[in-house]
Formats: sequence, C-alpha cells, structure tokens
Amino acid sequence: MNTTLEKSMADDNKLVIFDTTLRDGEQSPGASMTKAEKLRIAKSLEKMKVDVIEAGFAIASPGDFEAVKGIADTIMDSRICSLARALDKDIDRAAEALAGANASRIHTFIATSPIHMKYKLQMEADAVIEQAVRAVKRARSHTEDVEFSCEDAGRSEIDFLCRIIEAAINAGASTINIPDTVGYAIPEQFGQTIKTLIERIPNSDKAIFSVHCHNDLGLAVANSLSAVSHGARQVECTINGLGERAGNASLEEVVMAVRTRSDLFKVSTGIDTSQIVPASKLVSTITGFPVQPNKAIVGANAFAHESGIHQDGVLKHRETYEIMKAEDVGWHANSLVLGKHSGRNAFRTRIEELGISLESETELNRAFAAFKDLADKKHEIFDEDLHALLSNTRNVEADEIYKLVCLSVCSETGVTPLARVTLLVNGEELSAESEGGGPVDATYRAIEKLAGSGVNLQLYSVNAITSGTDSQGEVTVRLEKGGRIVNGLGADTDIVIASAKAYLDALNLMGLNDKKAHPQGDV
Ligand code: KIV
Ligand code: ZN
Repeated sequence: MNTTLEKSMADDNKLVIFDTTLRDGEQSPGASMTKAEKLRIAKSLEKMKVDVIEAGFAIASPGDFEAVKGIADTIMDSRICSLARALDKDIDRAAEALAGANASRIHTFIATSPIHMKYKLQMEADAVIEQAVRAVKRARSHTEDVEFSCEDAGRSEIDFLCRIIEAAINAGASTINIPDTVGYAIPEQFGQTIKTLIERIPNSDKAIFSVHCHNDLGLAVANSLSAVSHGARQVECTINGLGERAGNASLEEVVMAVRTRSDLFKVSTGIDTSQIVPASKLVSTITGFPVQPNKAIVGANAFAHESGIHQDGVLKHRETYEIMKAEDVGWHANSLVLGKHSGRNAFRTRIEELGISLESETELNRAFAAFKDLADKKHEIFDEDLHALLSNTRNVEADEIYKLVCLSVCSETGVTPLARVTLLVNGEELSAESEGGGPVDATYRAIEKLAGSGVNLQLYSVNAITSGTDSQGEVTVRLEKGGRIVNGLGADTDIVIASAKAYLDALNLMGLNDKKAHPQGDV
C-alpha cells in the first residue's frame, strides 16, 4: 500500500483527481489506443501527479487486460484502477490485471435509474442492491480500495440512491461515485443531490463522494464544480474532455478552476499543472482528436490576445486580462530539443524524458532512422515532433496489412491532379494511379483501387504540429465500416504523404480484430 497516496486521499480538503482518459476517454468513437500508447499517456498522468488513473476495463478484451496490467506493473506514484461491472467474472479479471500495482482500486458499478433497471438490467430494485453489495464484497476480497458507482445516478431516485449507497459503504466501498451518465444534470440541482446524499446517508462519512459528469449539455465541468462546492471530494475527468459522446468533464478545466478560484473552492488538488499542456498534446496526438483552438486552458488561442487593447493591457500589467499564467499550465515549455546533428544517445535520452519507452533496440533504431530522416527535412525538432514520430511506430506493432512504399503526385494549376501510389499489401508490392479533385483525393482513390476496403471517410483533418512552414503536418482520418470507427494518424513534412500515411494507418487498424465489450452494454 502506498502510504503517501493513502494519507493525501484522506485529507478533507484534498480534491482527488481521478483520470479516466484511458477508459471513458477511449470510449469516444475512434479513440482506441494501443497498449504502448496507453502506457505513454499513463506515464504523463503520473508525471502530472494524478491521484487515480482508470487504466481500462480489464474484461473488455485481451488487449484491454494487457494494457491495464502493463500500466499497473509500471506506474508507481498513481493508484491504478480497473472498471468492472457488478459481476464476479469482471471483478476477478480486474483484480488479476491489477495484481502487480503499487496501489490499486477496483471500480465496480451497476445502473440505478428506473429506466436502466427496467429496460437494460430488467431487474427489481432489491435485486440491484443485492448485486451491488455482492460485487463490492467480492472486490474487497481482492483490494482494500473499492469504488462503487451508481450508473445513471443523474436520473435515479434519491431514496433509492440513499439505500444502495448505504449498503455499498457497509459492504466496504470507500469511494462512492455519482455519475451523470447521460449528461442530464444542471449545476445547482446536481450540487444539491450530492449535499442531500451526504447529509441523509448515515454512514456517508466512511466514504469519499465522487462525481463523473458527461458533457451532453456542455455542463460537465460546471456540474462537477457544483458537486465539489457541495461536498464531493473526487472528480472523475479526462484530458481534453475526451469521452463517450460529448465527452467527460475536462481535467484541465476542473483543476484550473479550483486553483484559480481558491477563494471559492476550499480544496486543493495535488496536480502539477505545468504538465497539463504536454499531456493534452500527447493525448491529442495519440487519439487523433485535435484540440479546438478556443478550448479553455489547452487550446492554441487560450492565452492569445488578439485585440490591441488587450495586448496593451497585458503588456502594462498582465493581470488586466489574464487570470492564469500560460507557463503555469505548461505553455511555452516548448524548447528546441534536437536537431540534425543530435546523436542516438541524445535522441534516446530525450524520448525517455518524454516518458516514451521503446521496447527493443530494433524499435529504437527504427525510430532513430525516422528522426534522422525528419531532421534532414526540418532543422528544429520539438517535443511535439517526437511524439508524432513515435506515434507512427504504432503501425509497426499493428501488424500492418498496408505499407506505403512510394507516392508521387502531380498537382498543377489548370490540370486534374494525378496520384501514383505503390503499396506493400500483405508483403506484395502493388501500384495504382488515379485522378482526383485534389492531390489528397487522388491519393485516396489510388489507395482504394488497391485496398477496395469499402470504408466511409467520416473525417479528414490536417494540423501543423509546430509553427513555421517546415512544420510537420499531422493528418487525422476517421474511417467507418459496418458501425466500427477507427482514427488513423500520419505525420510528415509533406501533407499529402502525411494524408496517405493516416489513411493507411486507419485501414491497418480496421483490419485488426480487436472487438471488445462495452462496459455499459448488456450485463
Ligand atoms: O458514465 C458512466 O456512468 C460511467 C460509469 C461506468 C462510471 O462511465
Ligand atoms: Zn462515463
């Protein structure tokens, strides 16, 4: 047991930050991550001093199990949690994945709203309480730290919540989570619910009350903060607000709100806020979900003052228009890290500092070769470039079906663009050419002549990774087929090549057989 963690979590004014980027965040359509990518994110969360990392839903698939296990075996300073439905098999699988953790938590849940109990669970209220109690006891037989969630608490009856929560605490749950699963709550009302539960449940002092808010009405952060004002001492949140549908409460907004308005919130988090922007960029690069420029805290414009009056004010006295310092959340930490002449050791050291571990010398050699290639085209290599470069190694672990050998595109004023592409398809070299509306369209058509995948392109976006015209372009494509959605990523100083890489990355992911159970599906 990690005593530092235990002590800090027991402090009345401590707001426990429970990050679920790797579990609920991964439930965003197309945001699935590999084990290595999850590990990189877990390391950055640990560096940020997140208290609890929900690493996944161990029973969902062998891949999810391995990811939770890998994180549990590696991360030392944050508590590692796995989600489990209120079923013995889920709880035992979670415990197995968490066995190597320094500090672990099993998070078990069952739905408590009339609509979920009637239609999804098809269970009577008493049977739901019985199953919850059994689940908490089973989880306690594996670990001392058990969290119990009332799924769809936002639409549950308060009397029933009081009954089931009292029973769960008696059974040994030390954290009680109140999720607004469908994002239905309104701040004042949600805060009052938390207050009522804490006041009415006789053993409420034996547990930390937590909230987990979804953003369907854009109120996830506001609801979470209202809950904190009314006694909640854990907030479940995600980097960049990633998560099922409209997402979860964003970690960076919750953390910076309680810190900036410490006059109102009598709590503090243990978060190292300078790690917020690097973590946001990492999550965005890995998932392919770009951060909107006007997103609070981590958007590119969050600290940019356009109007002359504002600029003048900030120059005269920063606080005229700024309530937070950009550097406090990790902006401007961007230093030139490596260049053309950097050697293998410098490269290895820097990627280790970024929390990226390469599993073998072969992988390091491959990454170093890609770095040298990039350094030839782009003289200044920033951390963001390294993250993008390393993200491309996911292709290697993904058992590629398609590999880009060469691409040539003719794009000229007044002439229809033409792309010629050569791919390795399951090891066989094949070429095709196609015209298109633009160079990217022509490239994708040529690829499809070889792949014949039948996928639908749902999203295509390109972002400059750093500033300057020599920046790498990072392309995200979202492909759909038969209801399955995957995001592909590609980065290159040539955006047409980046586009081809992203499309092939997505096709390769589409080919993977990684069907997994959804935690909130049928029990
Ligand atoms: O939104 C939700 O209810 C959840 C639970 C499983 C905590 O994600
Ligand atoms: Zn959720």
